[in-house]
Amino acid sequence: MSNPIRFDDQVVIVTGAGGGLGRAHALLFAKHGAKVVVNDLGGSTHGEGANASAADKVVEEIRAAGGTAVANHDSVTDGDKIVQNALDSFGRVDVVVNNAGILRDKTFHKMEDADWELVYKVHVEGAYKVTRAAWPHLREQNFGRVIFTASTSGIYGNFGQSNYGMAKLGLYGLTRTLAIEGRKNNILVNAIAPTGATRMTEGLIPPQVFEQLKPELISPLVVYLGSAGCEETSGLFEVGGGWIGKVRWERSLGAGFDPKAGFDAEDVAAHWQQICDFEGAAHPKDNIEAMKEMMANLQKYAG
Ligand SMILES: NC(=O)c1ccc[n+]([C@@H]2O[C@H](COP(=O)([O-])OP(=O)(O)OC[C@H]3O[C@@H](n4cnc5c(N)ncnc54)[C@H](O)[C@@H]3O)[C@@H](O)[C@H]2O)c1
Repeated sequence: MSNPIRFDDQVVIVTGAGGGLGRAHALLFAKHGAKVVVNDLGGSTHGEGANASAADKVVEEIRAAGGTAVANHDSVTDGDKIVQNALDSFGRVDVVVNNAGILRDKTFHKMEDADWELVYKVHVEGAYKVTRAAWPHLREQNFGRVIFTASTSGIYGNFGQSNYGMAKLGLYGLTRTLAIEGRKNNILVNAIAPTGATRMTEGLIPPQVFEQLKPELISPLVVYLGSAGCEETSGLFEVGGGWIGKVRWERSLGAGFDPKAGFDAEDVAAHWQQICDFEGAAHPKDNIEAMKEMMANLQKYAG
């Protein structure tokens, strides 16, 4: 058995924790000794309405189990209020789990500005606002763990989810840069792409599978990524049904053309197979590694 993971004296914010995956994360963090800010606006899956009881109930559950938690009912778009609530209640913030989310599924040709904007607002702007408000505190204490909730709909695309896919993969872009900027202050930043049985996925997943995709099966990864002992940063993990896997970029070795002599669309067509051939593919970890093949091509034709 490995060392127990503990969060004694640490404060964790979980957004959208009044139900679904966020509730499971909040309960597990509390079980591991964290003081938890249970944030939830308590709206519908479509982002309408508000209801304080969602967050309040989860706080009651945590307290009944002997844990410590406070409820917060602000929207993630008011991230500064959520972080202020953590500071007022517990004096600090150590871990931010950006989990709150909504859906406004429509095919792109039926997409209206309001559907696009609301999904962007809750997922991207909301995660930005909460994380931005926490960031100076994490920097100052030289410790922080931030988890963003992406989606396979962003990674792979999904019919009717152009707005949601845009927002979810945007969060992974945010993860990559915050991981670079946070590293020197021991702020580690990762993203998860979960699959779990919640009101959001009810009716979309066949009932037999749905029953097995318990939200609790996602939280151990989130708690691990939030822990002081975890050294992972910039990662993207697919998780659900008791399975966890890491996702990375893969890029073909590509085809090089003479930049001085020039080349045209027919040359591109003639080399298409080579451009798309993943044999011996590269897995660039950063911008510098990513530029290696391009620089080698310039070098090859230099002089
Ligand atoms: N369930 C899945 O299979 C799945 C798959 C991929 C991604 N996700 C993501 O996981 C996260 C959790 O989703 P879930 O499946 O538990 O759905 P859920 O609807 O049960 O939970 C989302 C919670 O976020 C809250 N919320 C919505 N807007 C908010 C706002 N502006 N401020 C504060 N709280 C707000 C809701 O009230 C709700 O309790 C979401 O980001 C979702 O996009 C879920």
